Amino acid sequence: MSGPGALQLLAASTERSIAIVLMAIVVVGWAIYVFVNIRQAQAEVGSEIELAPNRGRMPDDEELEGRRLEKVQAFGVLMLLIMALVLPIYWMLEGGRRSGAVTSFSEAAVSRGEVVAAAAACTDCHGADLGGARFAPVVLDIGHQFSDKDSFNINTTWEAPSLDDVFTRFDTDAETLDEVSEVRQIIVYGRGVMPAWGLEGGGPYNDQQIDDLVAWLWDARIGKEDEADDEDDDEINEAANARVTARFEAARASEEYEGASDGKILFDLHCARCHTPRWPGRGPAQLPNNGGTVMVEPGPAGAGRYGPALNGVSLERLFPDIEEHVSFISDGAADNVPYGEFARLGNYGMPGFKKVLDEEDIRKIVEYERSLDPESQTAVGFDLLHEAGDDE
Ligand code: HEC
Ligand code: HEC
Repeated sequence: MSGPGALQLLAASTERSIAIVLMAIVVVGWAIYVFVNIRQAQAEVGSEIELAPNRGRMPDDEELEGRRLEKVQAFGVLMLLIMALVLPIYWMLEGGRRSGAVTSFSEAAVSRGEVVAAAAACTDCHGADLGGARFAPVVLDIGHQFSDKDSFNINTTWEAPSLDDVFTRFDTDAETLDEVSEVRQIIVYGRGVMPAWGLEGGGPYNDQQIDDLVAWLWDARIGKEDEADDEDDDEINEAANARVTARFEAARASEEYEGASDGKILFDLHCARCHTPRWPGRGPAQLPNNGGTVMVEPGPAGAGRYGPALNGVSLERLFPDIEEHVSFISDGAADNVPYGEFARLGNYGMPGFKKVLDEEDIRKIVEYERSLDPESQTAVGFDLLHEAGDDE
């Protein structure tokens, strides 16, 4: 066993302290027993009775109680000692051995996952540090809506979300890899312009490789050093929170958001990518046929993309009590678990935000969402493009 492994075996654990106490009790117990036994020893009863006639000749007392008896007794004591000492020692080391095995097993999974991730080029899209990025052109067929042809392509860049904090949003209570079904589901089946990676979803990787990818992501999670040992699932992830706070400050200071409410900015930073049409692909795009540049405009806020359209009217019906709305955004939806007044079912989609955003921010977003006007959503699908340069 290597250095760190051996260290782990000796690491203090609850089992170890229990074993030490038990061992002390056993040793003291033995000492008391031996002492009392010697004190109570008396002359043997019945030694005066004659030998029964049908008995063979036994060794006499002197022989029996001499070295021969001592040898047998010593052997008995030795066996007892082995059981009394070796078993607890084995038990004591077992916990460390097991956690050592788990650690080296998951280290192996992480490095296998790294190999799969490199082959899949996950970081090309999600950023070298997994902090999210805009990646190189995606050809989008935006259909006949904007031209008289059935097929109309644009080359646009697309936004890929950060993954080092993905476990703060999905499977928010996960503490072990077995619990991360949501993230696994997204990886297996893909989403939007991200292809499927699992065999079941039509991708290249088997279950083992998907497990390894999940282990790799788990190992890369932001702020893992600060995670509390006690099982407080609701604790905010300080590192992730600091990062989104910095992004919020930057947006707040930008010209684009002059006069915008905090709720609007927070919505754009955290929700728009799934709930606002064309949000991940907004910005300059190229027309492949003539190389001209066009601007892809995002649709009306919250008019629906991968996630459903959100507006004040529908949300006040879905969550008559605003507190329910707040706690839905905090916890997210779980697969097949009903939420809201009409018991909609979650489908691996809606993340939870309580580990990244403080409640005050979540409340601001909720208020903003409840102020969204359903009228503006009828405009979805129009006004996608304008020639770059003719801004007015
Ligand atoms: C071609 C670029 C691309 C590659 C390569 C890629 N992704 Fe993605 N990924 C995306 C985009 C874009 C999204 C967001 C999809 C959407 O908005 O519908 C996404 C979403 C995700 C999500 C959901 C995160 C969230 O918060 O919504 C996970 C998890 C994920 N990808 C994991 C992976 C893993 C693991 C790999 C490597 C095996 C990978 N991705 C490779 C582009 C990519
Ligand atoms: C990764 C994509 C994604 C992100 C990011 C996201 N949502 Fe969602 N949201 C969904 C999906 C998908 C659903 C539908 C439920 C499901 O499938 O889990 C949903 C459902 C909802 C609903 C219920 C609406 C209904 O009619 O059922 C609300 C409200 C909501 N999201 C608000 C938000 C807010 C606020 C944020 C940002 C803090 C946000 N979402 C971020 C994908 C997302």
